[in-house]
Amino acid sequence: MLLNPNQPNRNNVQGLILRGYTHPCSCHLLFTFTGGNNFNSKAFFSDLYPKLQSAADWGNNKPASMLNIGLTYNGLSLLKVISPSDLTYFPSTFQNGPSDPGSQDSLGDVGESSPEKWWNNQGNAVNNKLHCVVHVYGMTSNDLDELVSQVTASATKNGLVEILPLAIKDNGGRLYQSIVQHDPAKIHFGYTDGISEPSMNANPSGNTSAETNNNFVIGYPKGSTSDPGPTGVDTASRFAKDGCYNAFRIIYQDVAAFNLFLKQSANNPEVKKKLSHLNLTEAETEEWLAAKLCGRWRNGSPLMLSPDKPEASTASAEDFMYGSSSGIAGADDDVPSSLKCPFSAHTRVANPRDQLLSGSEGTNGPPRIARRGMPYGADLKNGATTDDGVDRGLIGIFLCGNLAGQFEKLYSWMNFNNFSGKKIFNPRKPPQDALLGTRDLHSTIFPNITNTFTIPVSGTSAAESIVLTMPSFLTTRGTAYCLLPSILSIAKLAGIKKPKLSSQWG
Ligand code: HEM
Repeated sequence: MLLNPNQPNRNNVQGLILRGYTHPCSCHLLFTFTGGNNFNSKAFFSDLYPKLQSAADWGNNKPASMLNIGLTYNGLSLLKVISPSDLTYFPSTFQNGPSDPGSQDSLGDVGESSPEKWWNNQGNAVNNKLHCVVHVYGMTSNDLDELVSQVTASATKNGLVEILPLAIKDNGGRLYQSIVQHDPAKIHFGYTDGISEPSMNANPSGNTSAETNNNFVIGYPKGSTSDPGPTGVDTASRFAKDGCYNAFRIIYQDVAAFNLFLKQSANNPEVKKKLSHLNLTEAETEEWLAAKLCGRWRNGSPLMLSPDKPEASTASAEDFMYGSSSGIAGADDDVPSSLKCPFSAHTRVANPRDQLLSGSEGTNGPPRIARRGMPYGADLKNGATTDDGVDRGLIGIFLCGNLAGQFEKLYSWMNFNNFSGKKIFNPRKPPQDALLGTRDLHSTIFPNITNTFTIPVSGTSAAESIVLTMPSFLTTRGTAYCLLPSILSIAKLAGIKKPKLSSQWG
């Protein structure tokens, strides 16, 4: 078969990168290479290699259990497969890690979310020595447990030490996937997730201009400047080719606080008055508010297609726009679209689609990331408004080829809604993403942030808006930047001399 330089061989790319898995069980194990006895990375990776899943089509033979492997920059440095001088070719964002002040300018983790409090308050002691994340998947909990035991036994035998990211009372401190409301597509807060994903096509030809700014698989640049690689001919670039970066971010969700916010807002006299023409019950008002915060109803229907109620026919719709039409950057020309979906609704900030971006944000469309995360922690029962003390939230797996240009850029947009020329996005007093914005930034480093969420309401007066003061529902529990190397690079770590790799192009 002829080699196609514009497409990675799917057999050489870790499966997690190019496809969303539907295994109902997973566990995400964290390791350090230091602190154990007789560290033997070759034996560890060799033990794991037979279960390493590529992105090749598995047809009818869906694996009962399988795994993928990510390495931090500090981890890679200790494995000695890349020369120290070549290691410097990795992008500085990956080298310095997410607790670095440069990254924190975008991520905005302050207060309870600050890096010193990550990983169950172990902070920098773990941030500096987290070296490897193993993502283990199983069709049943037995399949999962069996493989988790094999991985941890090999780690112990080979001198790796497991790091527990949560308190011991929560699932023994490990990150286990949970099924929320008995529906694998639901995340805590009750929304359906995993609907809208970018095209992962690595081939530059045929991409729309909106996608030229986004890279995923390393070594296949789509934009002129935005593939930081490394993509040279050195040992770092050879190791990184066909890999992808993973911003692995654990986010606690305070579901009781979220439920309480919806209930109190639905009973707020101002809200009731402004929505009186809709004749909604209290429960319906809560659903209406939840949809406005997200940009989609909890069943998945986007507000742009189903503005008045959730509809089964639009529940998995990905194809819609926000309708900026004047072509003049900064024009406040789409008030009608904000009557359906508020400007700061989570999905509208995370992917403003055709909405005009302000000049400094470029002309190549919004930064995109691929999401492969899942919830952790048991469900909070029956819409409770008091907390039960269980740790629960999102195991965020955010993939991209450029951590600074895609993941962190998007995060800065969520914390500072100043990426578009809308009047409401006053750069000197920017609002935040209704679900994701770090509210504490308001009281600490950036007092000018607007901590309110504006929902334009159609009715008697088009100018009328509901303005809600936003509490914080989320706390960052930890973040690690990992490289998900190619299958051949992991074979090299495992000391496998002639790994067999059949061809299946992108
Ligand atoms: C606990 C935290 C979060 C919650 C509850 C949440 C919730 C959601 C929901 C319900 C959707 C709609 C489903 C879909 O389109 O697939 C969505 C979409 C999305 N989210 Fe989040 N999310 C969270 C964190 C994040 C983070 C940290 C990022 C970025 C770094 C992010 C980026 C996105 C993107 C890019 C989309 C797709 C938007 C589109 O293309 O229309 N989310 N999120």
